[in-house]
Amino acid sequence: MAIKAIVAYIIYFLGFFILWTPESRAQSKVDSGFFQGQRWKDSQGNPINAHGAGVLYYKDKYYLYGEIKKGQTTLVPGQIWDAYRVPAGGVSCYSSFDLKHWKYEGVALLPNTKDTSSDLHVSRVIERPKVIFNEKTKKFVMWMHIDKEDYAYARVGVAISDSPQGPFRFLGSFRPNGNESRDMTVFKDLDNSGYLIYSSEGNAIMHICKLSSDYLSVTKNEKRMLVWQSREAPVIIRNNKKYFLITSKTTGWSPNEAMYAVADKPLGNWKVVGNPCTGSMSETTYNSQGTFALPLTNGQFLFMADRWNMKDLENSGYVWLPMTVEEDRLKIVWQDVAFY
Ligand code: DGJ
Repeated sequence: MAIKAIVAYIIYFLGFFILWTPESRAQSKVDSGFFQGQRWKDSQGNPINAHGAGVLYYKDKYYLYGEIKKGQTTLVPGQIWDAYRVPAGGVSCYSSFDLKHWKYEGVALLPNTKDTSSDLHVSRVIERPKVIFNEKTKKFVMWMHIDKEDYAYARVGVAISDSPQGPFRFLGSFRPNGNESRDMTVFKDLDNSGYLIYSSEGNAIMHICKLSSDYLSVTKNEKRMLVWQSREAPVIIRNNKKYFLITSKTTGWSPNEAMYAVADKPLGNWKVVGNPCTGSMSETTYNSQGTFALPLTNGQFLFMADRWNMKDLENSGYVWLPMTVEEDRLKIVWQDVAFY
């Protein structure tokens, strides 16, 4: 009896040892930080309202910024697509030490409730806010998509702050080098160069553009990529010496298949590889659309996406999944673990 028990213990610990590889350790860190439902709560028990979000890692803390989608969803008349919207609610900020428990830091960028000509007026569109820290100026710089309800304004907006949680001061909006700009993201490279990646030319062509050294404007150093591929929702990462760009198709709030491209440098030649998602529902990015990817450990990222609820945008959900890079290959695998 005693011998049987000892053998069972040895087998148990041997199995544990084999499974407990560095990779599985990193994986479990990822697992604990994501959730797949709608009622994801902050530390006060309120639903987290941060859509089209991005994360800034600064001084051992994660800062999550996202669109505040609050109030009734309405259909904009006269559009040929599912033009559902909520009033622009500004940009929220949450902080966390572990990607799991999030403290509400307040509204980092306030909407304007009075001046209908303001880019931040509630009647406008404020989407996909992303924040990067400028080492030289010590400022936090927020870039976002600014639009009117018919999405014909197609601009990018910039705001600045002395602290990560804001308040951010809006500096204005513009079309980068005169080009239409809708879905976008920003990326800070290892050498501190900043880049803006944005859907342009009727969303048919993606552009990448180097930012000025203070990150407040764009330079003429710009390149067209994914030409005529009609992509949006750009998510960019660097792993070792390769850059990866994940995008979605342009189907409004409806989910579609993600695709990724690889390049040796941000302004280099982007080569399309394919869908990074695996398994069932990979053709709809697991019923979601990418917004950001956060580096965790080498080759391990947290892929963050929105599960849009088109007719009730306030109740849109979030999908956070582990993403791995092996050489030139990206892989996203569905995980069932709910965070709430
Ligand atoms: C898809 C974009 O990715 C979203 O950010 C939003 O602009 C919707 N289109 C609007 O339909």
